[in-house]
This record gives sequence, C-alpha cells and structure tokens, in this order.
Amino acid sequence: MQHLTIDQWVAQPSQQDKNDVIVRPIQLGDANLIFEMHQRLSPDSLYYRYLQYRRPTLDEFAAVCHLDPAKGAGFVATTQRNGEIVVGIAYYVREAHAQQPTAEPGILVEDSFQGQGIGRSLWQRMQQHALVNRIQRRRVLCHPNNQRVVRLVQGGCLPYQAKASSGLSEYLVTLGERPQPRPLRWSLAEFDFSISY
Ligand SMILES: CC(C)(COP(=O)(O)OP(=O)(O)OC[C@H]1O[C@@H](n2cnc3c(N)ncnc32)[C@H](O)[C@@H]1OP(=O)(O)O)[C@@H](O)C(=O)NCCC(=O)NCCS
Repeated sequence: MQHLTIDQWVAQPSQQDKNDVIVRPIQLGDANLIFEMHQRLSPDSLYYRYLQYRRPTLDEFAAVCHLDPAKGAGFVATTQRNGEIVVGIAYYVREAHAQQPTAEPGILVEDSFQGQGIGRSLWQRMQQHALVNRIQRRRVLCHPNNQRVVRLVQGGCLPYQAKASSGLSEYLVTLGERPQPRPLRWSLAEFDFSISY
C-alpha cells in the first residue's frame, strides 16, 4: 500500500487554483462544457441555483448559449484541464413586462472553485454588461439561506430593497446609482423566516 508523505499531502490542495481561470462571454459552442460542469456539481449547489435537484438538459443550455442579445447576456469562467472546461456560468435575462428595464441574473460556480472570487468576477462582469445595455434594475431571487448571494449583492455596494417573496429572498438592486459606502458589518439576517429543504 502506498502512503502519502507530508509533502505529498501538502501538495494536494482541497480547492482548485483560481489563478488560471478566465471569464469570457458565453459562446455558441459552450453548451456541452456547461452540461459537463453540471454533472460535477454537488446536490447543494444544484439546489441553490435552480431551487430543485433537476439538472437542466443540453437543449436548455444550448438556449442559454443562443440568448438573443436584446434579451440578455451570459458569461462563463473557464480553465484548462486537458482542454478547456467551464467552472462557472452567469447570465441575465431581461424581464419582458417590467416598467423599468429589469433583469434577472443566475449564477453558478463549480463546488471546488467556490469561495475564491470567481463568483464575484462573474457577477461584476454581468453587472457592467447590464449597465451598458441600459438595464436599470436587477432582481435577484434566491433561497433564504444563500448567504453567498447576499454577499454578492451587498458587496456590489449598490442600493437595494430586500423582501421575502413566495418563500424566496428577493433583492431589487438599482444599477447606475453611485455605490454606497461598504458597511462595516454585513447584515445577513434581513429576513425573519427560514426554509429548510
Ligand atoms: C453563489 C456563488 C455563485 C458564489 O460564487 P463564489 O465563487 O463561491 O463566490 P466568491 O468567492 O466570489 O465570493 C462571493 C462572496 O461570498 C462570500 N463568501 C464566500 N464564502 C462564503 C460563505 N461560506 N458564507 C458566506 N459568504 C461567503 C465572499 O466573501 C464574497 O463576498 P465579498 O466579495 O464581499 O468578500 C457560488 O457559491 C455558487 O455557485 N453557489 C451555488 C449556486 C448558487 O447559489 N447560485 C446563486 C443562485 S442564483
């Protein structure tokens, strides 16, 4: 039986290295890579993103890759592992009937790449794109326990309204406003209920 030495142990980090990860606009041929990323996801990440345990189909990812630029835009985080792999995806879709131009974003980073700033990079890229395309508000819907999304919203330092809506947390972020001073302490307890799943 082979035993790991201390050096071998130290040389095997629990997280992937984000330094070789790039963020780029989604391309028509990315559907397969996005599909493969979803096969590597934990049930928790899948649930937090889609609020159900179902993995979207290849056709659904193809539709995201073919998003009409008038309706939204998407970005992927990629790295090289014997070829390019997708480790993160974020896209927004313009709401059809909102009085002010409003977009709903969705974001997902593969488990072993989470907590390294990749979500923040994708989030900012999406936000800049939405601003240039005159989106005035972003409606973020998430599970009430999803503290990373709360941090993404709060870390953007833009004004927002928070409310509970149909068992979800909803943040309506106003884009294009002067950023607010970053609070000294984050308030994660803006809702007086929680839901278990
Ligand atoms: C939400 C998600 C996209 C964030 O991506 P990420 O790469 O993990 O995020 P980052 O490393 O950029 O961190 C984002 C913020 O969360 C904070 N954060 C990181 N780990 C955290 C944790 N365990 N608890 C609370 N906040 C945490 C970070 O400090 C950062 O805030 P800051 O920039 O103000 O410091 C990712 O965790 C994910 O895919 N989760 C599952 C799917 C999901 O929840 N999607 C959102 C629903 S639309």
